[in-house]
Amino acid sequence: MSPALEVHDLTLRFANFVAVNKVSMTVETGSRQAIIGPNGAGKTSLVHALTGAIPSSAGTVSICGIDATRLSQAARVHHGLARTFQINQLFTGLTVLENVLMAILERDGRASIFWRSVAAERVAIDEAKALLELVGLGPQAGARVNALPYGMRRLIEIAIALATRPKVLILDEPAAGVPTTQSEAIFERIAALPRDLTLLFIEHDMNLVFRFAEKITVLVAGEVLTEGPPAAISADERVREVYLGRRGHHAAA
Ligand SMILES: Nc1ncnc2c1ncn2[C@@H]1O[C@H](COP(=O)(O)OP(=O)(O)OP(=O)(O)O)[C@@H](O)[C@H]1O
Ligand SMILES: [Mg+2]
Repeated sequence: MSPALEVHDLTLRFANFVAVNKVSMTVETGSRQAIIGPNGAGKTSLVHALTGAIPSSAGTVSICGIDATRLSQAARVHHGLARTFQINQLFTGLTVLENVLMAILERDGRASIFWRSVAAERVAIDEAKALLELVGLGPQAGARVNALPYGMRRLIEIAIALATRPKVLILDEPAAGVPTTQSEAIFERIAALPRDLTLLFIEHDMNLVFRFAEKITVLVAGEVLTEGPPAAISADERVREVYLGRRGHHAAA
């Protein structure tokens, strides 16, 4: 089986600045992989390049064996690649269910069209409820987003990303902005997602990374420093050095 993601020499330049420099990595189907690295290492930029949010400058990306390098972000979503964002993007005045429902309708190309039938509406609502159950927010479906704690809001974003029916889900700091006491619960929900869904996540909290990742890719100054299973990464002197701040600064292009 083709890997969920296969990346070769992926490069992303901003003007004269190289944010992602010849990154090659493989994410196996059904695996849970983490990308770690200091602030400014290029993690989010790499996600932009993977998803096509920003066109890459060089290199290739395959999604489940399909060359996606020249595909738009929407086409990559269509091929099964979804993402969540480091900063959340919800309609806080709407209910949890309405937020997920909008994502489903958008997927089906019906966002701006009046629903054709009550039956179709019912199907979409049931699907939204099922997605909320998957992230543990069934009981909160009818609550307004702005009435919920931030940790729950972050789970809504995952449900929204799942509405595109992804094979691969990229989570950019899914627990960012959430008190440490709630971040573990978020990761437990993520870990409980269906096993056939491939997960690639960015996270700064090493306890969470070592607990939930099967493989870790360490990004420093836009480049892959090393990758491997948690035990190897935690024992790696070079990785420790990065987190003590002696490395990790970018070179100009
Ligand atoms: N649109 C842009 N234009 C120019 N430079 C950018 C742009 N976006 C990001 N950068 C730069 O690219 C580098 C990598 O940024 P990026 O956001 O990818 O880092 P990160 O690893 O996600 O950091 P963090 O852990 O803080 O989220 C940073 O130096 C940043 O200033
Ligand atoms: Mg980032």
